[in-house]
Amino acid sequence: MIHTRALVLGIERLSPLFYLVELKSPIVASQAKPGQFVHLRVAENYDPLLRRPFSLHNTKPSQGTFYILFKLRGKGTQALSQSSAGEELDLIGPLGNGFPPPSPDQLPILVAGGAGIAPLFMLAQRLSSVRKGLFFWGARGREEIFLQEEISSWGWELRVSTEDGSLGHRGMVTDLLGAYLSKTKDDQIIYACGPWGMLKEVNKLSKERDLPCWVSLEENMACGIGACWGCAVRCRVDEGLVYRRICKDGPVFPAQEVVWESR
Ligand SMILES: Cc1cc2nc3c(=O)[nH]c(=O)nc-3n(C[C@H](O)[C@H](O)[C@H](O)COP(=O)(O)OP(=O)(O)OC[C@H]3O[C@@H](n4cnc5c(N)ncnc54)[C@H](O)[C@@H]3O)c2cc1C
Ligand code: FES
Repeated sequence: MIHTRALVLGIERLSPLFYLVELKSPIVASQAKPGQFVHLRVAENYDPLLRRPFSLHNTKPSQGTFYILFKLRGKGTQALSQSSAGEELDLIGPLGNGFPPPSPDQLPILVAGGAGIAPLFMLAQRLSSVRKGLFFWGARGREEIFLQEEISSWGWELRVSTEDGSLGHRGMVTDLLGAYLSKTKDDQIIYACGPWGMLKEVNKLSKERDLPCWVSLEENMACGIGACWGCAVRCRVDEGLVYRRICKDGPVFPAQEVVWESR
């Protein structure tokens, strides 16, 4: 874990609610693995005081830069959206475990919902030199689907759903995933990131077909380094029910370990 400052190189508004930030920190860029995150002080003036966690979305190690992609939610993301090139942001990271790679015979299936696209984009990019698969992406409307060309150019088959029907299938991304899984018997491994309800459904679909499934969970965080247990999630393991810290033990967990009924 590194405590450092990263220079903001640029911030781009991709849609009314989504922003892409490029930051310079050679040490973070060179160490980052897909599924890991940075815990960021979003404003120089300590307002808000608590850091906010953001997944690593992309890295360019040769240039010493990395990207985060975020959705406007409350005070912290509002403050971050106001940052500009030349500012420095204090961060801790890369934190967390990251996604485990697939075995050579497993077809990777990625499932993103909303801002869950952030870590899966980097996973797809890193895996593309080894194993390409299918990328399912669900959003509210077409304005929240961007970067499709890049994902397709890496050789992934992209299948999109929007709740308002403005692009791709009208409905939920899990409709598309369920329909696909019911027609195939390949040896697959699922990686998912998105809202709790979506992940719960992805877990159900993977369990029905006995497929390995890894989910990246989101929770409000305070310390981000395993000390406060503010991000605990209930899990079921061989020893029984336990609490796991999303920041330290995750954020990526085997889907079947999570107690999905706990929320
Ligand atoms: C591992 C991980 C990776 C993530 N990656 C991404 C990503 O790549 N992209 C993305 O868009 N989102 C991501 N998120 C979610 C993101 O962290 C939240 O959207 C963000 O923290 C929201 O901050 P906010 O201040 O805008 O929202 P708010 O809802 O206002 O605040 C979020 C939390 O901050 C704390 N807080 C806020 N105000 C106060 C207060 N007055 N006093 C005390 N505590 C307060 C609380 O814990 C609150 O629930 C990730 C989350 C996790 C856990
Ligand atoms: S945020 Fe403190 S233990 Fe995870």
